[in-house]
Amino acid sequence: MKFAIASDHAGFEQKQQLIEALSAEGFEILDLGPDNDGRVDYPDFAEKLSKVVVSGDVDFGVLVCGTGIGMAIAANKVDGIRAANVTRSDFAALAREHNNANVLTLSGRFVSLDENLACIRAFATTEFGGGRHAGRVEKIMNLEHKND
Ligand code: RB5
Repeated sequence: MKFAIASDHAGFEQKQQLIEALSAEGFEILDLGPDNDGRVDYPDFAEKLSKVVVSGDVDFGVLVCGTGIGMAIAANKVDGIRAANVTRSDFAALAREHNNANVLTLSGRFVSLDENLACIRAFATTEFGGGRHAGRVEKIMNLEHKND
């Protein structure tokens, strides 16, 4: 399974730790930066990662900032993205099963590395449930151009 990951300065340390731990578990990981903890703007990295996810080159994306909130707001502005900000692994699984989320956003400042690792593992191993959820996700996607 291949996923892309990016962060801002607040998520940089955990990004590096997540990559190290999950590479060792066999995940193929595309690191979209940054490559140091210098101050950056999270929307730039949310946009970069979202475009890769929409292109289909990876199975899903992971974004890490201070809270995960700014990354989710930014990523959800990109057509085709369904980003979920989660702080516990059962929510990560439900974001896949019910919402067919394709980007997970995590807090590098307020959630432990172990919990974030559990979130990514749960996200990676849970399938979209389809059925009654499919029409709802379709309605979400239909909102994308309602204000055009
Ligand atoms: C950066 O200070 C912080 O605002 C950012 O990492 C994130 O938490 C925004 O949502």
